[in-house]
Amino acid sequence: MSRNNARSNPVVVIDNGTGFTKMGYAGNLEPNYIVPTTLCAADSKSTDKGIEDLDFHIGFEALNKAVGNYQINYPMKHGLVDNWNNMERYWEQCLFKYLRCEPEDHYVLLTEPPLNPPENREYTAEIMFETFNVSGLYIAVQAVLALAASWNSKKALELKLGGTMSGTVIDSGDGVTHVIPVSDGYVIGSSIKHIPLAGRDITQFIQNFVREREKNIPPEESLLVAQRIKEKYCYVCADPAKEFGKYDQDPKKYLKSYGQHNKRTGKDWKVDIAYEQFLGPELFFNPEIFSPDFTVPLPDVVDSVIQSCPIDARRSLYRNIVLSGGSTMFSHFGRRLNRDIKSKVDQRLDKSMQLSKDKVRPKEIEVNVITHPTQRYAVWFGGSMLATMPEFFKVCHTKAEYDEIGPSIARHSRIFGGGVAN
Ligand SMILES: Nc1ncnc2c1ncn2[C@@H]1O[C@H](COP(=O)(O)OP(=O)(O)OP(=O)(O)O)[C@@H](O)[C@H]1O
Ligand SMILES: [Mg+2]
Repeated sequence: MSRNNARSNPVVVIDNGTGFTKMGYAGNLEPNYIVPTTLCAADSKSTDKGIEDLDFHIGFEALNKAVGNYQINYPMKHGLVDNWNNMERYWEQCLFKYLRCEPEDHYVLLTEPPLNPPENREYTAEIMFETFNVSGLYIAVQAVLALAASWNSKKALELKLGGTMSGTVIDSGDGVTHVIPVSDGYVIGSSIKHIPLAGRDITQFIQNFVREREKNIPPEESLLVAQRIKEKYCYVCADPAKEFGKYDQDPKKYLKSYGQHNKRTGKDWKVDIAYEQFLGPELFFNPEIFSPDFTVPLPDVVDSVIQSCPIDARRSLYRNIVLSGGSTMFSHFGRRLNRDIKSKVDQRLDKSMQLSKDKVRPKEIEVNVITHPTQRYAVWFGGSMLATMPEFFKVCHTKAEYDEIGPSIARHSRIFGGGVAN
């Protein structure tokens, strides 16, 4: 098939996260695969020369294989590529083994975190165009894709926010939580904040909490069990002090139990699940319970990010606060954030009214936290949507451009609707 046909083939959309890679074809509502961003390769000493390059696995297969001569590797750390060789091998399997595509017949959309160094975009372009020979490439900022993904949500439609490229994105995945203001499609880079608290920390907190109390859990499974408990049972409460009271008054109603069969010993085991159901996600709202080094609650971070943006952008940033990433999936997460951010904003308005002795009555500020059905993989879904628009091909870099100019073409991304992002 010739390159000319590449535009009629579906665009390959890959969102590589610290914990999970979401991959599939543009136009679909869900990624075809969500697999861990892990790779495990045979130790070169233990394989025949020449074979070691082929003897590797990614995703769940890598996790299952990670014994004996195989070494497990995580090519991404805190949202950024950490090992380019392994990332290249990882992409190789994404394209050929999972998506089963011929990359030279496709355009590819990849994602990047905010403030990704331009050199990283150059390395990415080099690998995509030279190793895989793709027809075209677009590297999109994750937050912008997450905004696009929220357009179809019920609340966004009610508020007529569909199509709005302004808002504040809270992207919380496995390794990092970012708060990113976007105004008319441009990320306000100087105001972005990230907090060192995301899914992996909550899992670890639950693991420690449960391990101290329940001695039945096989040690080798305790991390996975903690992750399952987190994803299945955890929720955000309105007030932790009251929640403790409710559990103590009526434990039968609130305690859950979780059990499994231990393959190694052949025995079944069972544990109670208690306060960790609401204490896990409480880390976002009272981070001091996890670490003394970081103590600013997420609603305060969101408020200070918006306050640091230009004054004329702030109302639209409060009006459209969009959630993205697996760690925003806890029930009532959006509701509590909405309440806490609104209360900070109202306190500030009250104070300015008091200072002016009630002479100046500022207009109320609308705060909306938007939850939506594709939140778990919002970045991927936003990419899937945008890559079906005719405008997509205008913002891509093509193989011909790459051959003419070289990797430096990828230093700057063109953005949807014109302009160049840094
Ligand atoms: N239903 C759920 N409730 C709570 N947490 C969940 C749920 N589903 C997934 N997660 C958590 O979300 C995290 C993965 O989210 P995501 O795929 O957005 O991260 P990522 O993109 O790999 O990481 P990052 O964006 O930090 O680079 C994991 O910690 C996982 O345990
Ligand atoms: Mg992510």
